[in-house]
Amino acid sequence: MKSYEKLLLENKAWAAERVADDPTFFTRLSKLQTPEYLWIGCSDSRVPANEITGTQPGEIFVHRNIANLVVNTDLNMLSVLQYAVEVLKVKHIIVCGHYGCGGVKAAMTNNSIGIIDKWLRNIKDVHRFNRQEVDSIENEDERVDKMIELNVKEQVMNLAKTSIVQKAWKNSNTPHIHGWVYGLKDGLIKPIFEMPAGTHIDPIYEYDNL
Ligand code: CO
Repeated sequence: MKSYEKLLLENKAWAAERVADDPTFFTRLSKLQTPEYLWIGCSDSRVPANEITGTQPGEIFVHRNIANLVVNTDLNMLSVLQYAVEVLKVKHIIVCGHYGCGGVKAAMTNNSIGIIDKWLRNIKDVHRFNRQEVDSIENEDERVDKMIELNVKEQVMNLAKTSIVQKAWKNSNTPHIHGWVYGLKDGLIKPIFEMPAGTHIDPIYEYDNL
């Protein structure tokens, strides 16, 4: 059996189990999705949003990219964000990074590794904004861990800078934005930063005509 054929077999077994548990599972979900959460996480295969939060299909709207970045010119992320906030009306947005993130590690070296340099440049900016705090940590793993936390915090703030989030905060006092970091070594999520709806942001980024 080819390795990918196992996936198709497992899928059949999974679907059968769902129906055995709840005969209306697929017919119900096929009609609508009403997720309460938008998840912006790393593409890393070890950080699957549903498994680590014990959630089911239909519960989390998911966007993943390398190092869980919120880049203000990323049409893909912005489209997901707008749909989640304005159509699905999610109550919470979770930016979930993870310790041991290869994207953050790569951004802290001086190696060029191709087109991904351009993407990781955003993380180098996070390093520059927090240069003293990061560079004062002598242990390399701890220094990377600190950058992983600071990166998540920066991406939460980037969400609050978007007109999409600011408009929603003004009109419906949602969504709340959470910055979490998942531990590959223990499977636990550590909340490290949050911006409840309406949190004051730097006026430089505020739109007053939304
Ligand atoms: Co990662």
